[in-house]
Amino acid sequence: MPTQTILVTGGAGYIGSHTVLQLLLGGYHVVAVDNFDNSSETAILRVKELAGEFAKNFSFSMLDLRDKCALDKIFSTTRFDAVIHFAGLKAVGESVEKPLLYFDNNLIGTIILFEVMAAHGCKNLVFSSSATVYGWPKEVPCTEEFPLSAANPYGRTKLMIEEICRDVHSADSDWKIILLRYFNPVGAHPSGYIGEDPRGIPNNLMPFVQQVAVGRRPALTVYGNDYKTSDGTGVRDYIHVVDLADGHIAALRKLQDPKIGCEVYNLGTGKGTSVLEMVKAFEQASGKKIPLAMAGRRPGDAAIVYASTDKAERELNWKAKYGIGEMCRDQWNWASKNPYGYSGSKDSSN
Ligand code: NAD
Ligand code: UD1
Repeated sequence: MPTQTILVTGGAGYIGSHTVLQLLLGGYHVVAVDNFDNSSETAILRVKELAGEFAKNFSFSMLDLRDKCALDKIFSTTRFDAVIHFAGLKAVGESVEKPLLYFDNNLIGTIILFEVMAAHGCKNLVFSSSATVYGWPKEVPCTEEFPLSAANPYGRTKLMIEEICRDVHSADSDWKIILLRYFNPVGAHPSGYIGEDPRGIPNNLMPFVQQVAVGRRPALTVYGNDYKTSDGTGVRDYIHVVDLADGHIAALRKLQDPKIGCEVYNLGTGKGTSVLEMVKAFEQASGKKIPLAMAGRRPGDAAIVYASTDKAERELNWKAKYGIGEMCRDQWNWASKNPYGYSGSKDSSN
């Protein structure tokens, strides 16, 4: 197959940077765009270093997806075989406080992307959806056919974009779209050179645990120990970010299938792990004690969420390789080498 050229939106972000690296190492040509709203140029520089000789197949432009002229220029200079669309805002709490910001950034950004892609005849898309579209699942594992709902404006943007994708494909069957519903991405590249670097107080479990381990926070607050689970704490499907990145390459291969229309796949491991099990695995991997403070349930949280991975295994020929031991090992490797993230400075993080 001739070399493919892929546009990656949000390519400086956590999942985007890992995916760009896997694409380059897999022989793809990559153009990444990002407005650095939640990321840093250092991530791009490090991806280039890790890619070695493949870095020659990579270019980056700083732009906001809502800047149609800037995006159009990118498409005017390069013919893309497909787009992987990560760019978006993702903090649930912030989306409740600032819903219009989320609708503007996530929805308008995506609509403009669709318009520019169509204008340049590129109609192959992989979109970052989320397990959040399953809301509070009545049973597990979650299959792709489960009813969908949104618990907050962030989740609603994912649900709306999924609907937009289905409508765009119904109107024009030239579009081939793969919606990937991620479960809980954690870990980092095994080099410890790129990883997750959230701004402000982390919302998600593992970035918080990591900051406790390096002394940035005194203790992990455990949100609820009265769920109907083995130890009372919430259960999730944690997936290594490198496995997740590889899932995107599997999706790109699937876009070659002439029968593909608008299709959805879960990307998870199919295994549920509780908060306390995850903390224990991290303590083992890091040799650090994580002090805990028990608290009430976080509003909006489901008790148990994990994926059915059958469809992705069957149709994408993809399966997660790493377990929670490796996720915690790589998370700690990244954290211990970069305790203050990409900036390296105590003052620029809080
Ligand atoms: P991230 O914040 O690290 O990456 C998103 C990137 O998009 C950032 O670098 C940000 O600067 C950029 N961006 C945002 N708005 C933009 C715009 N208008 N124009 C250009 N760039 C813009 O987040 P991530 O964890 O890498 O997530 C990537 C995608 O996956 C997001 O769409 C997110 O909603 C989705 N997702 C993430 C998770 C998770 O737990 N990390 C779970 C499910 C789905
Ligand atoms: C959160 C988001 C969800 C998003 C997903 C992946 C909320 C309500 N939901 O879900 O929309 O798709 O991340 O990005 O924010 N926990 C603690 N202490 C903490 C943080 C988390 O005990 O400081 C617990 C939670 O209660 C949960 C588990 O750890 O049981 C995982 O939490 P988190 O990493 O935030 O992921 P999700 O709850 O799956």
